[in-house]
Amino acid sequence: MNEILTLRNVNKSFSSFKLKDVNIDIREGEIVAFLGPNGAGKTTTIKLIMNSIKRESGEIYFLEERVKQNDVDYRRHIGYMPESGTPYEFLTAREYLEFLLGVYGADKSRAKEKIKEVLEIFNLKDDKKHIRTYSKGMKQKVLFIGSIIHNPKLLILDEPFNAIEPQTAMLMKNILFEMKEGGCGIIFSSHILEIVEKLADRVILINNGEKVGEGNISSIKERGGLDEFFRTLTNSYQIDENTEKLIDVIKS
Ligand SMILES: Nc1ncnc2c1ncn2[C@@H]1O[C@H](COP(=O)(O)OP(=O)(O)O)[C@@H](O)[C@H]1O
Ligand SMILES: [Mg+2]
Repeated sequence: MNEILTLRNVNKSFSSFKLKDVNIDIREGEIVAFLGPNGAGKTTTIKLIMNSIKRESGEIYFLEERVKQNDVDYRRHIGYMPESGTPYEFLTAREYLEFLLGVYGADKSRAKEKIKEVLEIFNLKDDKKHIRTYSKGMKQKVLFIGSIIHNPKLLILDEPFNAIEPQTAMLMKNILFEMKEGGCGIIFSSHILEIVEKLADRVILINNGEKVGEGNISSIKERGGLDEFFRTLTNSYQIDENTEKLIDVIKS
């Protein structure tokens, strides 16, 4: 399998947070899950891959070519679903998707047909409503569509399933499997371990700005499952003790 994305010793710090020497390899035709507690550095890593924030040191390679700090062109081949929504919420879903396909250089009349079909598949109305008036789940659908509509080589999804209804989650999972079969490399962050277990080939665990674990789903399952993997490697989770404590606090 060919390498699609490589991160070598990537570093970034904010005032009270450091992402330290992150090394990641994503190959074509695999689905990799980023796992880690809130604030671990998953979104920061994703933003560094997209060059939407500047790394302090380290190298990023996309399709074996070095990505420089100000490069944007390589992003045409990447689909990105941000965690925090889009700045283009003042557009309708159709306008937003037309805008994206325009950026990707798609043929205009084909783009219109494509968008019509895709909105129908996702049960979204092609109407005059602005994205900002959508529910959280509807917004996520539009962002997901926006990330796959140009058939990218690498797909990066930041918490794609958070507010998604079950039937759409199933549709999304099937689409991701098909894209993977077609050679797409896929990275997604999620807290939903059941989905990670079903979808991912490999898991990368980030804690406190560091990659603390990595493994194939099959071998993690053999060694006690994802829950155990997460618990052991993040060791901030004295769940039983904390449950007792919390119950005491709320009863007091
Ligand atoms: N622009 C920023 N300025 C200051 N701190 C930030 C900024 N972005 C993220 N952080 C901090 O970096 C840490 C990691 O955040 P993030 O990567 O969003 O975590 P995750 O996605 O794993 O929940 C958090 O402590 C967060 O507050
Ligand atoms: Mg995040």
